[in-house]
Amino acid sequence: MTENRAYFETILNRRGTNCARWDTMDKKYQKANMIHLGVADMDFQSPLPIREHFKEIVEHGIFGYSDLDEGFYNAIRRWMNRQYKLEVPKEWIVFCPRINVASSISVEALTDKGSEVMIHSPAYSPLYQAIIKNERIAVESQLILTEQGYKIDFEALEQKVTDKTQMLIVCSPHNPVGRVWTKDELEQIGAFCVQHNLVLFVDEIHSDILAKGYKFTSALSLSSEVLERLVVATSLTKTFNIPGVIISYMIIPNLELREKIQNYIDRLGMHNPNIFAATAVEVAYTKCDDWYEEMLQYIDENEAFTRTYFKAHMPKFTILPREGTYLLWIDYKDVGCSGETLEKWFLEEANVSVYMGTNFGEAGKGYIRMNIASPRALLEEAYGRMTKVYHNLLNK
Ligand SMILES: Cc1ncc(COP(=O)(O)O)c(C=O)c1O
Repeated sequence: MTENRAYFETILNRRGTNCARWDTMDKKYQKANMIHLGVADMDFQSPLPIREHFKEIVEHGIFGYSDLDEGFYNAIRRWMNRQYKLEVPKEWIVFCPRINVASSISVEALTDKGSEVMIHSPAYSPLYQAIIKNERIAVESQLILTEQGYKIDFEALEQKVTDKTQMLIVCSPHNPVGRVWTKDELEQIGAFCVQHNLVLFVDEIHSDILAKGYKFTSALSLSSEVLERLVVATSLTKTFNIPGVIISYMIIPNLELREKIQNYIDRLGMHNPNIFAATAVEVAYTKCDDWYEEMLQYIDENEAFTRTYFKAHMPKFTILPREGTYLLWIDYKDVGCSGETLEKWFLEEANVSVYMGTNFGEAGKGYIRMNIASPRALLEEAYGRMTKVYHNLLNK
C-alpha cells in the first residue's frame, strides 16, 4: 500500500469538526451514527504537501493579510497546460473566493435585472439560485435521457431562447448527472451562444475528476468567437479536497467582461484571498500529482465496487453511467415507491443519508445522488445497512 492509498482507506471521524457533511447533517436528521453520503466533499485527508504547508503557516503564527503572487498565477497556468493543454494568459485569471460567488456575481454583473438566463436541469441548486436570487428569470432546458446517457436538448434551447435571454449557464462536467460534455457538444453550445448573443458561463469545478477513459474538454478550447463571451469558473477545491479553504478563480478572455467582474469583486471587498488559500493553489497544483492520480483510481474502484454490490444486493436501483465527478446518479423508479417513502426509508430504516434528486429541481424526480468519495469500508457499511432493510422498501 502506498502512503497515499492509506489516506483513502482510513476512516477518520469527521464529527465534531464543524463539518457540513457530517455535523450539519447530524443536526438536521437528529439520528445517532448516521452515514452521510450527501454533501459533495471527500472523506479523504488532503495531500500531505498541502497539510505540511498549512502547518508551516500555523507555526509561523501571524495570520496577516495575504495577496496573489506570481506563484498563484504560474501554478494555475501549469495545471491548465498539464491537464488540458491550454495556454492561459495570466491576465485572464481572476481570483474569486468561491464558485458559488463567481456564478452569482457573473449573473449580476453581466446580465440585466429581469432578463432571462438559461440553465440545464436537473441543476446544481446554487447555479440555479444565482439566477433566481439576482432577480433574473430562469429558463430551464431539461437534459434528455437517451440509451447513450444524458444529452443536451438543443431543439428545446432554440425554442426557449428569446430576445430577453442574456446568458447560458453550463455545468461541465455536469453535477448531478455526471456527464462530461464532448468537444462536439461544447462547440454546439458555443455556436448557440454566438448565434443568440449570450454570455456563456461554464462551471468547470469537477473538470479534474474523470472516470477512467474520459477526457475533459474545457470551454476555453472553443473558438475565439466563443471566448469573447465566455466566463469559466473553476477551482482546485474538489480536486484536492480543500473546499473549506474557500478558493476559486475565473478565467475570462474578454477584457470588457473581465473588468466588469473585477470591478464587482472589488466593490464587494473580496479581491484578496485568505492566508491559506493563495499558496494552497501553488502547492496543490505543483506538488500533489501522485495523490491526485491515486484518488482518481480509488474513485474508479469505489464505483466498480458500488456497481457490483448494488447489482447483487439491491438490483432495483439503477446506477447511471458516471463519466466525471465522484457522485453517482441513481434511478430508483423500479423500486416502485415515492420519493417521500424512499427518503423516509433511508433516514429511518437504513440510517444513511443521500441527496434526493429533487434537490436539483423537478427534473431530478426518480433519482438520488450518492457521494462515493469515502473509504470503501465506510461505503460497505452504508450499503450493508441498506441491504438489510431493502426488502422492506420493496413492500412499501
Ligand atoms: C457544480 C458545482 N459548482 C460549485 C460548487 C461549489 O463551489 P465553491 O465551494 O467554490 O462555491 C460545487 C460544490 O459541490 C459544485 O458541485
